[in-house]
Amino acid sequence: MKPIRKAVFPVGGLGTRFLPATKALPKEMLPVVDKPLIEYAVEEARAAGIEEFVFVTSRGKTAIQNHFDSHLELEYALREKGRDSELSAITNAVGAPGQFAYVRQMEPLGLGHAVWTARNFIGNEPFAVLLADDLISGEPGALSEMSEVHNEYGGNVIALMEVAPAETARYGVVAPGTDDGRVVEVLDLVEKPDPAEAPSNLAIVGRYILQPEVLDFLALGETGAGGEIQLTDSMARLIGGAPFSGVRISGTRYDCGTKIGFLEANVAFALERDDLGGDIFARLEQVLESHRPDA
Ligand code: G1P
Repeated sequence: MKPIRKAVFPVGGLGTRFLPATKALPKEMLPVVDKPLIEYAVEEARAAGIEEFVFVTSRGKTAIQNHFDSHLELEYALREKGRDSELSAITNAVGAPGQFAYVRQMEPLGLGHAVWTARNFIGNEPFAVLLADDLISGEPGALSEMSEVHNEYGGNVIALMEVAPAETARYGVVAPGTDDGRVVEVLDLVEKPDPAEAPSNLAIVGRYILQPEVLDFLALGETGAGGEIQLTDSMARLIGGAPFSGVRISGTRYDCGTKIGFLEANVAFALERDDLGGDIFARLEQVLESHRPDA
């Protein structure tokens, strides 16, 4: 089985849900505690063995490029002051020269179009796609779990989670076949179905391991839900060729594309940290107590 070496990060979205914060700042640079969302996704990819990273960007996203570049002046200043932990916090993100590439999507035509825009970088090998909005906690990372399944079954692998049946219209949804509780055979995929038409309540989380043939279908440029070129529709056309598996991820997924999910992630990740000082749990309890609606 060929190991997965390349990952695509679609980061072209406008982030309108987070205005005014995202007027001049890419939404992927919003911090969860003190690290930008996109860095969590890059770390998860690195932990799964990814060596080459391509970002599908748009106008106004240069802060992402700067974040993964070296910053010699800042590094020098931190080194001079002996601020070792801050120094490693900024150098950890930086890749080797040539490891990070950026392509412009040019037109906001959908997730499928964003992935297709990266085709020359992907070439003819299986690749991963990570949506930074879906922040996933837990060890091992979701992409590592999927990589294990890919090693075993080959083909295409997507991350899954169960959602409330009423919420299917927000996700790509799977028609499941055999299911061992962890790995689910994928018989069909539908993007954003109404609850009445959804084949299950197993939804796609923004992590994918895909065979390069998906690019041939994406190249057709056919539009689907919301008038966009959907990745899900081209993935559905792969079913029946190579194996197609879903993996129920063991970590918790936070929908950082919404304000409430982003807030939840900040609280959860802060509670996991032991370097924030003070009793953060008690402080958050105080905040909740003083804001109780019936107080
Ligand atoms: C995208 C995918 C969808 C998937 C979701 C996960 O939708 O199209 O299949 O379930 O990400 O977050 P979006 O959230 O971009 O509308």
